[in-house]
Amino acid sequence: MSNLTIELKMIATDELLTIKEASEWATKHTGKTVTTANISYLIQYGRIKKIGDNGSTQVSKQDLINYYKSYNGHREVSWKDQLGSDLNWALSFDQYKEAETTKHVHRLHPYKGKFIPQLVEYFLDSKTDKFKTETYFKKGDIVLDPFSGSGTTMVQACELGMNAIGIDVSAFNALIGNCKVTIYNLVDVQTEISRITKALKEFLTNSHTLEFEEKLLRALYEFNNEFFPVPEYKYKLRQGEIDEAQFGAEKEKEFLPSYNKLVKQYSIKLRQDKADNLFGRSPAGRAFRYNLLFVPHKRIFTSIPNANYSLN
Ligand SMILES: C[S@@+](CC[C@H](N)C(=O)[O-])C[C@H]1O[C@@H](n2cnc3c(N)ncnc32)[C@H](O)[C@@H]1O
Repeated sequence: MSNLTIELKMIATDELLTIKEASEWATKHTGKTVTTANISYLIQYGRIKKIGDNGSTQVSKQDLINYYKSYNGHREVSWKDQLGSDLNWALSFDQYKEAETTKHVHRLHPYKGKFIPQLVEYFLDSKTDKFKTETYFKKGDIVLDPFSGSGTTMVQACELGMNAIGIDVSAFNALIGNCKVTIYNLVDVQTEISRITKALKEFLTNSHTLEFEEKLLRALYEFNNEFFPVPEYKYKLRQGEIDEAQFGAEKEKEFLPSYNKLVKQYSIKLRQDKADNLFGRSPAGRAFRYNLLFVPHKRIFTSIPNANYSLN
């Protein structure tokens, strides 16, 4: 039994803590700064249970103990058990907070399959260590990521003064990647935002959409409060008390008549008649068709519309 396990067992388990006390306890026991916002996040996302009302919210120390059991080296040991003791744990970048792994443009979209930028940096930059004994890339090189996802590798290559090419089968991922690496003319961006805002205002003035959305949001709010209360619902999910797929499907079916009624009442059209709609005319619309990305670090490459996956 490790020292940590013994220590955790010795802590009284029925104790309730305020958010502030929980943050102080967690800071002491993890050796990392755990803020009150971090604790609120754990409650919000159902990792630990909320006890009491807003203002006098408390959490159970036992819940915190269970949650933090996965840290302090336990994760490393568990992965090494599964994958072998030669696993280079440093490359997990486990110590980084979410804010650091989604630094600058990486936060533009919460794409779950993205690499950790620090991992890409490690392999691209010029530093060496016992594990990476050689440098493979230098400024001005061209990096190809044939599965570029949301573009982390391309962004990091650009940051290190390299050019980058990305390819992805998903047009949406190509759009995210393009947004992160394109060089923008800020005046053009401002003009485009004004154009879209004006078009949107006109569209909303001439439709019942706003009223429809207000009614729909109200109905959804009441429905969600009843059947998906936060954070109780997420907590039950994590405890395995609810089958999310089945429950979600049932509730969706239950809500559908209210939705259809509102659509009918406000004469809402669910599809645009013509392809030449608001988005079809915008650069964002065009970007949906780019599946091949060329990153213009030094303006050597340009985007290719309607490209397929071959480089011919
Ligand atoms: C883990 S993500 C890549 C992360 C990315 N390299 C980065 O730097 O963040 C894997 C990507 O591969 C793409 N993919 C899967 N099969 C593919 C294929 N046959 N051709 C191109 N892309 C593919 C997926 O759409 C997904 O975006």
